Amino acid sequence: MEGIAADSRNAAPVATTGADTVAKEIVISSLRKSFGGNEVLHGIDLTIAGGDFVGLMGPNGAGKSTLIKILDGVYERSSGEVRYGGEPVASLGGRPEVGFIHQDLGLVDELSISDNLRLGEPPLRRLGPIVDRRRERADAARCLAEVNLDLPVDALVGALSPGEKTLVAIARALGRGAEVLFVDEATSTLPPADSRRLLTALKETAGKGATVIMVSHKLSEILDATHRVVLLLDGRIVEDSLAASLDRHALVSMLVAREKSETAGAGLHERTAAHTIGGEELLRFEDIHRGPVRGIDLSVRAGEVVGLTGLPGSGLHDLAHLAHGTLRPTAGKVVRRDGARSALVPPHRETEGGFAEQSVLENLTISSLERWRSPLRLLRGGKERDDAKEMVERLSVKPADPQAIFGTLSGGNKQKVVFGRVLMSRPSIYVLSEPTRGVDVGTRLEIYNLIDELAAAGAAVLVVSSDSEDLFAVCDRIAVVTDGRLSAFLTADETNPQELEAFI
Ligand SMILES: Nc1ncnc2c1ncn2[C@@H]1O[C@H](COP(=O)(O)OP(=O)(O)O)[C@@H](O)[C@H]1O
Ligand SMILES: [Mg+2]
Repeated sequence: MEGIAADSRNAAPVATTGADTVAKEIVISSLRKSFGGNEVLHGIDLTIAGGDFVGLMGPNGAGKSTLIKILDGVYERSSGEVRYGGEPVASLGGRPEVGFIHQDLGLVDELSISDNLRLGEPPLRRLGPIVDRRRERADAARCLAEVNLDLPVDALVGALSPGEKTLVAIARALGRGAEVLFVDEATSTLPPADSRRLLTALKETAGKGATVIMVSHKLSEILDATHRVVLLLDGRIVEDSLAASLDRHALVSMLVAREKSETAGAGLHERTAAHTIGGEELLRFEDIHRGPVRGIDLSVRAGEVVGLTGLPGSGLHDLAHLAHGTLRPTAGKVVRRDGARSALVPPHRETEGGFAEQSVLENLTISSLERWRSPLRLLRGGKERDDAKEMVERLSVKPADPQAIFGTLSGGNKQKVVFGRVLMSRPSIYVLSEPTRGVDVGTRLEIYNLIDELAAAGAAVLVVSSDSEDLFAVCDRIAVVTDGRLSAFLTADETNPQELEAFI
């Protein structure tokens, strides 16, 4: 792996053929940020040449979003300097040539695409108060064409897929003249087909001379799209390499080696060849119907990991809720073996999962308090704290402090805590919906190891995921939900990620 100097002032600008202008250079020097007394960025030095495509990677809580929010002017830096085209600036925010796509896209579902594109700008006027709707529509159509989005400009944004929404947000930034785009984890919640469209749009934009800075945990995206990979760890830049000098394996070791030596080296997770297949059936779907789901039969046995995948709108995530019992089928039935308890990791853990005001410890233990009660019904706080501490370490939750307030954690760390709560409740059936969504590479591998251990200990595990890597890493059998039914089950050896992704 060919590393280049951490401040990388010699990074080559990307070819800019076809561009009217080349974006200005951004130079970040000695940038620090503290929240209260806690410093989370410890002196960032980073130079981004106009036209570069930078993949910003790093574990959850490393400070990626904080850096981007400082550049946008959402947070103030504690010290340091930012120069844009040679000029010192307070931030890069508030100028049309720099676009920020945060994870919350800032679109209004109830408005049309065209109105969203113009949000916050004065209407185009024809004469006096008469709004020039035709020109607004023509402008909107031009913006959409820039990102290859073939949709009527009158369509309501609320009716779009998550990927289309992200493209609208990018179209809006480009339509306002953005030459620099910061894109923070836009693809982590998108199904593969939407991610691919988004990446294509970003690559085309960069090809025209724009600068793109993209945060992502997905190795294939980073390797496919970016020119340069910057790794942020604990508020410091620890690697800065040309993407061409990296392959998947090198990237994994770069990401993982620095935090967890025990998962490094082997590269990606290898599926444990045999979970104990043939155990007792713990969960069964009998001809389940609900919404788009029209007749699904499924059986999950003790010691087995079963994977389900499918398109958005296929009812895929409803199946997780049906398995857990938080949704009821309109026809058919879900049978759990007598006494078998299930626990659910919900797909949208950012919003469904946690208690913002409570500590990490309380969020971890709330579903299993009985475990720490003594025969006299007193809560054994010491044991509870030890177990919480162990889980925090196991999942590398940052900060590694069980007393931290859940609401102040970064998105990926919130996800880990909700996952940890499910693990601590020790059910016999695990229903894991998008188990690795938004988590960093090290945690992804740790979650795969955990799933293997759960199965080895005799649990039945249902993994519902639109990430084919999850399915191949841990599942004994995989099925695709299409047209409300399950395709035949396949084993990981009978298919491959490309074939499977063609369905989702
Ligand atoms: N508003 C805030 N108040 C206190 N701490 C914060 C705040 N925002 C972020 N942090 C802390 O800063 C660190 C970096 O978070 P973040 O930039 O969101 O990480 P990343 O985007 O790399 O996952 C984390 O430890 C997080 O808890
Ligand atoms: Mg973030």
